[in-house]
Amino acid sequence: MSIIKFIKKIKKINRTLFTTPSHNQGKGGAPEVINMLGRKFFSCDYSEIEGADNLANPIGIIKQAQDNASHIYNSKATFFLTNGSTSGTIAGMNAILSRNDKVLITRNCHKSVYNGLVITGAVPIWLMPHYNRDWGIYEQVNIDYLDETLSRNRDIKLFIMTNPTYEGLLSDVQAISDICRKHNVKLLVDEAHGALWNFHKALGTPALLQGADIVVQSLHKTAGALNPSALLHIGLESDIDPKLVQQSLNLITTTSPSYPLLLNIEGTVNYLNSEKGKLELSQLVKNINRMIRTLRTVPNLEVFSYNNDVTKILVKVTNMSGYELSDILFEKYNIEDELANEKSVLFLTGIGTTKTKLKKLEKALVEICSNNIKITEDEEDYNIFTPVEPRVKYTPALVWGMPYKEIELKYALSRVSMELISDYPPGIPILIPGEVIKKEHLDFLKNKKKIKVLI
Ligand SMILES: Cc1ncc(COP(=O)(O)O)c(C=O)c1O
Repeated sequence: MSIIKFIKKIKKINRTLFTTPSHNQGKGGAPEVINMLGRKFFSCDYSEIEGADNLANPIGIIKQAQDNASHIYNSKATFFLTNGSTSGTIAGMNAILSRNDKVLITRNCHKSVYNGLVITGAVPIWLMPHYNRDWGIYEQVNIDYLDETLSRNRDIKLFIMTNPTYEGLLSDVQAISDICRKHNVKLLVDEAHGALWNFHKALGTPALLQGADIVVQSLHKTAGALNPSALLHIGLESDIDPKLVQQSLNLITTTSPSYPLLLNIEGTVNYLNSEKGKLELSQLVKNINRMIRTLRTVPNLEVFSYNNDVTKILVKVTNMSGYELSDILFEKYNIEDELANEKSVLFLTGIGTTKTKLKKLEKALVEICSNNIKITEDEEDYNIFTPVEPRVKYTPALVWGMPYKEIELKYALSRVSMELISDYPPGIPILIPGEVIKKEHLDFLKNKKKIKVLI
């Protein structure tokens, strides 16, 4: 039986439950909350009652739903995550890495990879992607550089990469997985932003179809599910033991599964795989492409279009920083973007992005560029980080919990950082505990007075 069917059934039976959760399917508890979320939401919230399943050791409805998803995605095994891709990345790392194992990571990774480093005790080696100064973004993985790095470091066990990048740039995962296999290195792909790819050919190619060992996808980012639903897949050809992944997930996951989240994961996957879901996705891609075609004709406006996922719309305006454009859109048009940098602005779209919403953005961009609209208020003094090769003095796990002191920034050069510093979004680490503080870090942190350093 599916999770959705089971919840429908249990609601009908109206069993008298002396179990958690105590809100008694919305009959008690804070009225403001219940009114806001709706009794219906609460009425789907059960724990491991008779007939339900155990997220830590699924054998019933959760297992069936995960197996169904595994079939749809063509994986060896698929796990439902109720704590985002973050938990999937950490669990995936933990299933592969032991203390002091070496792991190669693209520096434009999400900061959840740092959490995985603390938990596993693995030693990071950073692969610096090329930084595109015209757009203020990191680019794809350079295949030759990867091959050369793996040849130089024979004892690397795992390579972690983000695909697409936060801004939607696509790497050649097939070539990357071939190189990893050649060097006997496992491949974990953070596909948090690629959850729609299995259902439309015009987006990216899923890493699962390109030989990755572990893939994590956030269903909430682009695929229409509730925050923070996600999936962890093991590649069909991978020799990673699903039991080990389950154990790793159990280390960091609640023992109280959220059925509203689980049924939304199940329902979202099935919807995306349905004719109706695919049609909605096709319509979205059509609408975006139509909008991009129009934007390309607008003077002073540039849309990024080079090997990227079209659901991520990255634009820049001549003689205007991304921050300025972002401020104008926010202040004058009530439009909030996903992310701005010194050069460009990123608009995240997904299954729920309507034509009307795209039209509103298109109209605003056309107006800004045609009328040369500027904001008159004082401009903020934005900090710009120039990516710099990290120098790892100690592993994140080694310095975890070590004594530190706060010192003024001007004395911090060459000291070992005890702070994780990243801009959010995108959550790409700028400085990680255990790394040596360089001049570029201090330039970026100029508005911060003090920083924690290792004693
Ligand atoms: C590239 C990337 N990976 C992973 C994550 C974490 O995903 P989640 O929010 O599902 O935990 C994010 C979130 O911003 C992300 O951008």
